[in-house]
Amino acid sequence: AFPKHVRIVEVGARDGLQNEATVSTADKVALINALAGAGIKDIEAGAFVSPKWVPQMADSNAVINALDLSTVNLSALTPNLRGAEAAQQAGIKEFAIFTAASEAFCQKNINCSIDESIDRFKEVMAFAKTHNIRVRGYVSCVLGCPYQGEVDINEVLKVAQRLLQLGCYEISLGDTIGVGTAQKVDQLLELLLQHIDKSKLAVHFHDTYGQALTNIYSALNRGIATVDSAVAGLGGCPYAKGASGNVATEDVVYLLQGLGIEHGIDLERLAKAGWAICSALNKQPVSKVSLALKNT
Ligand code: HMG
Ligand code: MG
Repeated sequence: AFPKHVRIVEVGARDGLQNEATVSTADKVALINALAGAGIKDIEAGAFVSPKWVPQMADSNAVINALDLSTVNLSALTPNLRGAEAAQQAGIKEFAIFTAASEAFCQKNINCSIDESIDRFKEVMAFAKTHNIRVRGYVSCVLGCPYQGEVDINEVLKVAQRLLQLGCYEISLGDTIGVGTAQKVDQLLELLLQHIDKSKLAVHFHDTYGQALTNIYSALNRGIATVDSAVAGLGGCPYAKGASGNVATEDVVYLLQGLGIEHGIDLERLAKAGWAICSALNKQPVSKVSLALKNT
């Protein structure tokens, strides 16, 4: 059955902007404030990763310092202890650690094996615990990998369980390159839900093949109540060539509205936030809903 309420985790300022042309710190701050103003409560604000790997996120500290942390839940990627320390210093109360269900992708993305990534995360988790910070875990490539192709759903289960054992409060299932289809989503969730409570799972779908909304529908149907999305469909993945951005938040909100599922977001203000950041990027939103609203 569908959930009554869906929590949107807005990842446009991180997953989106990490793969767009660099925008100014002021534009990022304005984006996050506009998203909060539209009613979004959970916002991934940046990444404390190596600036050599992802230069677009190099100003995450400045971005977060310019924000009011009391009204929204701001999170940030923390790939290692160094990133965690920097995020904590900035005032972040939720970390996100990230690994993959594919060895090849893990190597390209964070330069280590899945096993090694789990070892790195142990330090991050211990640090988070002493500072009362909750930690979200991402598993990438749950429906396919740009390097190895098919990914075994049993691998997804294994990695998700390892992250939960480390102490993550939630696992976000990433279709990093957007190759999944609805039936595969259903099969994956059928397996995972035999072992993991639905309240601990989120879906994070990229829209490369235009399947993200259908895939989200499939997940909602299994009771999943947390959905990651990016305003205006920003972004892609620097380590997954050809992958397009996350599903657009505007499109997800419109879907939820149609299904009578609560979300707490003002669609018009959200769309405006999308147009503003797209104007800074000199492009149009990749959201059919946003384009349609503009023309009505
Ligand atoms: P490494 O090269 O294996 O490790 O990087 P290292 O410890 O040897 O560090 C290399 C350099 O980075 C050194 O600098 C370190 O000081 C520096 P140098 O000596 O060369 O000048 N460094 C750092 N700088 C800032 N902050 C840090 C940090 N750590 C080391 N925290 C590392 C390992 C993980 C750091 C690197 O591989 C990295 O930063 N990767 C980032 C990858 C990334 O951000 N990917 C995109 C996000 S994941 C994603 O998009 C998927 C997701 O959306 C879900 C989905 O769609 O599936 C989440
Ligand atoms: Mg992603």
